[in-house]
Amino acid sequence: MTHVIDGKRIAADIRETLRQEVTLLRERHGIVPGLAVVIVGDDPASKVYVRMKRQACETAGIASFHHELPGDTSQEVLLALIARLNADPAVHGILTQLPLPGHISERAILEAISPFKDVDGFHPYNVGMLAIGEPLFPPCTPFGVMELLRVEGIDPKSRHVVVVGRSNIVGKPMALLMLAAHATVTICHSRSADLPALVGSADILVAAVGRPRMIPGDWIREGAVVIDVGTNRLPDGSLCGDVDFESARLKASHITPSPGGVGPMTIAMLLKNTVKSARRAHGLD
Ligand code: GUN
Repeated sequence: MTHVIDGKRIAADIRETLRQEVTLLRERHGIVPGLAVVIVGDDPASKVYVRMKRQACETAGIASFHHELPGDTSQEVLLALIARLNADPAVHGILTQLPLPGHISERAILEAISPFKDVDGFHPYNVGMLAIGEPLFPPCTPFGVMELLRVEGIDPKSRHVVVVGRSNIVGKPMALLMLAAHATVTICHSRSADLPALVGSADILVAAVGRPRMIPGDWIREGAVVIDVGTNRLPDGSLCGDVDFESARLKASHITPSPGGVGPMTIAMLLKNTVKSARRAHGLD
């Protein structure tokens, strides 16, 4: 029987554990973890994600500082805001929602965020720490995938993990976390030759390409673990993953649905990184 991994429930459990930890931090140490969320412009999908992040903070007892800037905000103004947030002791995490408008350099902004408040794990310092196997803040989505596997009792050690997608946000950090967990890792992408054969060689498949249902079930090896990071909007407004769920579930031993699989984990891990940052700032870890 194929097991459908319930990311929503696992994320809810993590968020409840964090809520209790935040309560203890406040009562015993007088510490309130704080997350600053910066959004520039009014991309509808980004606005939805940012609202979900704020609500999750409130439920967990984390202070959220919301900065919504108009789409024509200059890079200098955004850098000045980040400098203020870097210096603010009530702020333990800073997240600039991506993508940014075209006139702003994403690199310049991500490099301006203090690496010790970079709860997304996108600063080159944190990318480097992850690459040497000592991540301070693992990027939230791949971190969420590792947590799903841990909760489900799936150990990537010595397994062949195939990551489809090479983005800085998911594919590359996913491969590094899997390597650190002693997996044998293949990264492939849109220009890889014979993608079906590569996908078919996976014990654990992580799909992170952002193309609706591009991986059909008949590419997947019988008994593979299938983790679908994709959340794609179809013309009718509904959401689907990068994997064709209905045909893939006939082959997989474990599979995440989309929505309701990896997505909810991203926010849970963001809160986890924020609490970790607050503890670290107060010398507790
Ligand atoms: N845009 C899409 N995913 C992410 C993410 O994980 N963090 C941020 N800051 N922006 C995103």
